[in-house]
Amino acid sequence: MKVAAEFDSYADFYSAALAQALSPSGEDASYFARGRVAWLAQCLRQIGEAPRSIMDYGCGLGSTAPLLLEAFAAENTVGVDVSPQFLEVARRNHASDRTRFFSTEEYVPCETLDLVYCNGVFHHIQPDEHAQALEYIFRSLRPGRVFSLWENNPWNPGTRYVMTRCAFDKGAVALAPPYAKHCLKRAGFQILRADFLFIFPRFLKWLRGMEQFVSSFPLGAQYQLLCRKLMK
Ligand SMILES: C[S@@+](CC[C@H](N)C(=O)[O-])C[C@H]1O[C@@H](n2cnc3c(N)ncnc32)[C@H](O)[C@@H]1O
Repeated sequence: MKVAAEFDSYADFYSAALAQALSPSGEDASYFARGRVAWLAQCLRQIGEAPRSIMDYGCGLGSTAPLLLEAFAAENTVGVDVSPQFLEVARRNHASDRTRFFSTEEYVPCETLDLVYCNGVFHHIQPDEHAQALEYIFRSLRPGRVFSLWENNPWNPGTRYVMTRCAFDKGAVALAPPYAKHCLKRAGFQILRADFLFIFPRFLKWLRGMEQFVSSFPLGAQYQLLCRKLMK
């Protein structure tokens, strides 16, 4: 698979390439990962969801798994990815009794999960394969459970600038939010909410307290579409 081979070649310097691309924001990758998971935890508390089993779809180096486990006091997480090299690093650094990593071929979706989290993956998937990837996620979730899709916001000029600086984003096309919503609905998900986060770079961090009040406007560098798997 072409994407797997591309990411395999980045496994050794993915973190450095990401840090270099994100540097105009003044923050590192962990700031954004923690922000996404904290926001998701707040959203799920509001709707009374307490996931016990979680998937990180397109888990990369696996560094979000400990954040998900901690935020939800979950029983287990599973990370899936197409890149064998990324999975090797993820297993080495983060595998445990409660955290396991599989290729998308090894893991067989069987409606056992309460939450699927996915960040920054779909803009690396060819558009004609979006439906197939969403179907995999749909089949992984229990009926009625939730999917948190995080993508880069193509309407934010800072995001577009960062993507042009990012070695592994060459050829990636950020998904416009209406397109992502359309794909999710077609796959059988009900959209619960759309949130746009990460407006202010570090030098304006004193303004960040305002972000929660304007998160429904398409300003932030990334957006979350939180959705629920409809009962068939
Ligand atoms: C930019 S990285 C993001 C990694 C991780 N989600 C994070 O937030 O750090 C994109 C990841 O998506 C994976 N990926 C690309 N196409 C995929 C697919 N069809 N299914 C699952 N993972 C995929 C890549 O191998 C890579 O690890």
